[in-house]
Amino acid sequence: MVKKAIADLKPYTPEDTLDALKQREGLSKLVRLSANENAFGTSPRVAEALSKWGFTGANRYPDSNMTTLREAIASRLNVSADALVFGNGLDEILALLSRTLVEPGDDVIVAEPTFSEYALNAVVEGATMVDVSVDSDGVTDLASFTNAITPKTRMIWICNPNNPTGTFVSKAEIAAFMKTVPASVTVIVDEAYIDFTTVEDDPSALSLMAQFDNLVVLRTFSKAYGLANFRVGFAIVSPT
Ligand SMILES: Cc1ncc(COP(=O)(O)O)c(C=O)c1O
Repeated sequence: MVKKAIADLKPYTPEDTLDALKQREGLSKLVRLSANENAFGTSPRVAEALSKWGFTGANRYPDSNMTTLREAIASRLNVSADALVFGNGLDEILALLSRTLVEPGDDVIVAEPTFSEYALNAVVEGATMVDVSVDSDGVTDLASFTNAITPKTRMIWICNPNNPTGTFVSKAEIAAFMKTVPASVTVIVDEAYIDFTTVEDDPSALSLMAQFDNLVVLRTFSKAYGLANFRVGFAIVSPT
């Protein structure tokens, strides 16, 4: 028998593809905004590299350690290669984090509104969602997150910048918030849109990981890199 949490889920109805939508609406040009895809397309340099790939190794399983990508990202972000966990898009990482960390009856804190998949995965694991309303400017309200923490809290999601409000909390604010969070609670900062921020030179929470073992940072190639079709996302976790 299917878990009750899954039976109770509302079925996800995938949107039409852009081509199907255009056809249905009889339009020659249409920009789909709801999936936050990169409207500028993929870099021509990526297209060129792909065309040179040539399918010679397509019959072989890929390197499951993703060594080349792992080393390139580790060096680019200045993190240990062991700290990287890759997924089939960030979607898979979101599910894995909930599956690994959340027990039935745990509390999981999220902003309201935020990316809906945090709640979906937590609910599947039997967690109770604690929704904390964004402030009147649509900004994730970290002071109210702190007030919502109880001994049952297991995980806290910060989408930064937040989908769908597009607002941003600074690294200093996240650092101050982390000091209020017990070490047993994992805080996940989803930086799917971090490359679009212009407010700070180094807007990422990544550098805070040296101070806080319970901080996880997420990135994806789907947005700024224009590679949503490739399904590559990753977590940077504390190796301990
Ligand atoms: C905040 C946020 N996190 C994660 C994802 C999923 O990204 P991916 O394409 O890497 O699965 C999205 C996709 O829209 C998103 O908006």
